[in-house]
Amino acid sequence: MTEISKAAQALKAGHLVALPTETVYGLAADATNPEAVARIYSVKGRPSDHPLIVHVSNAELLDQWVSEIPSYALLLANNFWPGPMTLVLRRSALAQDFITGGQDTVAIRVPGHAKALEILTAFEALGGLGVAAPSANRFGRVSPTTAQAVASELSEYLGDNDLIVDGGESEVGLESTIIDCTGSNPRVLRPGAITNEMIEQATGLSVVESGSNIRVSGSLKSHYAPEAKVILDGTASLGDGLIALSQVPTPAGVIRLAAPETLAEYGRELYAALRKADSLNLSRVVAITPDGDGLAVAIRDRLVRAAS
Ligand code: TXA
Ligand code: MG
Repeated sequence: MTEISKAAQALKAGHLVALPTETVYGLAADATNPEAVARIYSVKGRPSDHPLIVHVSNAELLDQWVSEIPSYALLLANNFWPGPMTLVLRRSALAQDFITGGQDTVAIRVPGHAKALEILTAFEALGGLGVAAPSANRFGRVSPTTAQAVASELSEYLGDNDLIVDGGESEVGLESTIIDCTGSNPRVLRPGAITNEMIEQATGLSVVESGSNIRVSGSLKSHYAPEAKVILDGTASLGDGLIALSQVPTPAGVIRLAAPETLAEYGRELYAALRKADSLNLSRVVAITPDGDGLAVAIRDRLVRAAS
């Protein structure tokens, strides 16, 4: 049996599959199976009222999960799926409380990763309708961007029938942009690689500032945090780790954890750099935040959470 059909069958049988995506690795389960979804929460150590993102292989499956799709949401789906974007829409009866945390909305995404899409397609061929997949880390910790990071994070909690699928390093490295599409204008609940500029360009609508009371666990203040203390825009001294764009020099005695040339590289390398700080047992990491719009917004968002 191929790795893809093995993963699809494991999902259909109610097991968990850690699945590569272009953003971060997800911990997937059949989104219509309450026992399987309950195991996601126990493996992650996550409070059970936090809603999950449903992943499907293509936008046609949206209709199954949602009851209402505003035209700007369709424009977003057509422009950015498969890709690092999650849409929050009014749910259908298929999206039960154990997925939505009891809210009347559901979050849904078509991931832009070849292996993820193959697994989803194979799962759907077995009669599956979608998989719920939060990031494959313990609650509150740094999201994994490699299969090795998933294993070190979750191995001890996974069962014999659960799988970790290796799809290489996640290309984007930051979780998807979450866009609430229940109002007259798109509202960004979590910034990501699909930026406000891209959303406005695709829809012709302005993005509303997020003052939403919809629950997003990633909006808790401390999240995406390593063991090391993260200090933003401070001075790194002897024995500290440093994460900054490549033009920032490394002071003597400081451990350079990442020196990205571009914002895209910064996003891709950030979580691996935070993990490296922990594997080196560093007590402090100084991160120099990037300026500007676009992807810099999402990078700053994650750094602020890692530092709180
Ligand atoms: O890139 C990603 O989105 C990754 C990959 C695996 O797809 N997944 C991910 O899932 O980051 P998770 O569970 O770690 O974060 C999903 C976020 C949570 O903060 C959750 O609160 C929010 O999505 N969410 C889920 N359903 C929602 C809903 N109906 N309304 C508002 N927020 C929702
Ligand atoms: Mg997460």
